[in-house]
Amino acid sequence: MIPPNNFITSPIKILHIGNSEINIFNTNGKNLDQVVIDDFGEEWKKFNNFEDPIIQKLGDGYFDIIDDDIVNSQTYCLDVGCGTGRWSKYLAQRAGFIEAIDPSDSILAAGKLLEGIKNIRLSRSAIDTLPFADNSFDFAMSVGVLHHIPDTQQALNDCVKKVKAGGYLYIYLYYTLDNRSLLFKFIFHLSNIIRRVTSKLPGRFKRIVCDILAIIVYMPFILICRLFVWAGFEKLAGRIPLYAYHDKGFLIIRNDALDRFGTRLEKRFSRDQIIEMMEIAGLTDIVVSPNLPYYHAVGRKKEFELNQSSESPLNYPTAG
Ligand SMILES: C[S@@+](CC[C@H](N)C(=O)[O-])C[C@H]1O[C@@H](n2cnc3c(N)ncnc32)[C@H](O)[C@@H]1O
Repeated sequence: MIPPNNFITSPIKILHIGNSEINIFNTNGKNLDQVVIDDFGEEWKKFNNFEDPIIQKLGDGYFDIIDDDIVNSQTYCLDVGCGTGRWSKYLAQRAGFIEAIDPSDSILAAGKLLEGIKNIRLSRSAIDTLPFADNSFDFAMSVGVLHHIPDTQQALNDCVKKVKAGGYLYIYLYYTLDNRSLLFKFIFHLSNIIRRVTSKLPGRFKRIVCDILAIIVYMPFILICRLFVWAGFEKLAGRIPLYAYHDKGFLIIRNDALDRFGTRLEKRFSRDQIIEMMEIAGLTDIVVSPNLPYYHAVGRKKEFELNQSSESPLNYPTAG
């Protein structure tokens, strides 16, 4: 697929990382938290060396609800908040062309990870300053991003605006543990108290503390899960916190511990809230995957135009 050259503003400059080009745009949006973005830039500088089998294995879980009718060789895609670009890399074999954007230094890491992939274009940009015309994309995705943005509903609206009528938006948002036991919720609330402290630590120290938490908080749960799975009690293991990591490597565990305990703005949504927000943004035929990670969902853009000037009707409390 030939990339539609539809930047609506010219890049301020073009950076070259190896063979990759990165289009630099203004990231002075209103709907962003600069400290969170700077922290992600640091995080992805450290965790960017994802090997293809790891991306493939994780991606199969994240994208279980995205079939070839949604993404195929004719699909023009947008990856909002691409981080290292691992999900763009995952979809690049199936998609026509992907525009991957991120406002943080992680876009430089993406330049390295995606080097040589011809059907991905990288841009430094933010969700409310996207340099693309409205109604451009057949498929847009925002994976683990919208819960780190001050106004999640507005961010969702801004993504939907870029999708063609009849096109799709895929999101992954942190969940409120609405489908979990009281014990599970209690353990989560304890971890949230820790996060309020760790997320405010200075950079290098924060990364060391989060590595320690990966070992003393994550690993005990994960090892119990592995033991149960090994003994044939997979269903029981599934009820233990952090089961999702029982088959993941230590790099992913450290990365996610830094994500979880190192990010100061983190919101959470129930399944119903996610469906409601997607409907308000103008999506229909919404499918929420029954599988981990909770919750990832996809919806199709309705044929009518959303009134983008309206205020966010939802104001969910922030956990951060
Ligand atoms: C948890 S990371 C997810 C990265 C990637 N989607 C993934 O799953 O590997 C969240 C990303 O959202 C980006 N982000 C934060 N605020 C944003 C905004 N206002 N617009 C676009 N991206 C944003 C961060 O820079 C960061 O790379």
